[in-house]
Amino acid sequence: MKQPVILGIESSCDETAAAVIRGRTLLSDEIISSASVQAKFGGVVPEIASRAHSDAVDEVVLRALRAANVKKEELDAVAVTYGAGLLGALLVGLSFAKGLAYGLGIPLVGVNHIRGHLAASYLEDETLTPPFMTLLASGGHTAILHTKTKTEFEVLGGTLDDAAGEAFDKVARVLGLPYPGGPHVEALAREGRNVVPMPKMLKGMGGFDFSYSGLKTHIINYVHTKEQRGEAWSKADVAASFQSAALDILADKTVEAALGRNVKTVTAGGGVIANGYLRERLQEQCTRHGLKLVLPAKKHCTDNAAMIAAEGLIRYEAGDFSPLSLNAAASIPLR
Ligand code: KG4
Ligand code: ZN
Repeated sequence: MKQPVILGIESSCDETAAAVIRGRTLLSDEIISSASVQAKFGGVVPEIASRAHSDAVDEVVLRALRAANVKKEELDAVAVTYGAGLLGALLVGLSFAKGLAYGLGIPLVGVNHIRGHLAASYLEDETLTPPFMTLLASGGHTAILHTKTKTEFEVLGGTLDDAAGEAFDKVARVLGLPYPGGPHVEALAREGRNVVPMPKMLKGMGGFDFSYSGLKTHIINYVHTKEQRGEAWSKADVAASFQSAALDILADKTVEAALGRNVKTVTAGGGVIANGYLRERLQEQCTRHGLKLVLPAKKHCTDNAAMIAAEGLIRYEAGDFSPLSLNAAASIPLR
């Protein structure tokens, strides 16, 4: 059977990305990032992001087709992120994808960005099939999901306030680290020790829900108190202590959920899954309990178009095409 060739386009935040897949095989994976421009402003400025996407979208798509050695006429569908994200940014990728699909006379497949993160694991292991327990941890979402089929999942629990990535970004700010904070906190944590007491609340909560705002407030108070008293404190130790408090719970609860539901495989997705400490904790826990762990490559955890193509393939196979009137959506509920 002929494997569909799908172009994925992603432009929800500050990465303009395009990728081509043939079936589950990734043929190319290109990205043009405006993160270094955004870093000067300490976060993503929507207007700057939209203009950067507009500059980059045709170039990144051409690069992806060239690297895949695929002519645009060979494409079977164009998959594109339509939400959630920054409206102006989404509209650039979406409008480009619509024009391309219309011009080529092939289906447009609108992809939910978060479902893209969840589909990234399929690229890592071509034999991977549900059911599995999935940890989603990005800048906007943190949840544990029971993935039942390629298109159905049940949310078992998640953050009650900030997402894990958001907590990393906020703590990075307190520590004077640049945006996006996650990778900088991780690097600093490697030089520190887990010796700063963190609130117990995180571990004490029942079910599969968790909260990050208390942890963040605790760190702000710790730093202010130390500075007011003129006492020495170690940024690296705070980073290491925060990182283990914030991430141990994710690994523990995901594995607990898998064991509770008798699910033998664990997958994950989202920018925070690029964190080496979290990847090690998940591996340790899964090995201990005899579970199979499939993690996307680090570059497929943070925003990319390969995952959009992967989710696009699932939609394409289900015949779930989008009309050319599809609009961008700033938020799409997870629950
Ligand atoms: O999935 P993603 O790229 O974008 C969203 O869809 O939100 O996630 C971005 C988030 C940011 O908050 C960033 O700080 C965090 O993922 N992140 C990390 C790491 N790399 C990215 N957090 C912890 N450790 C990392 N290595
Ligand atoms: Zn994302």
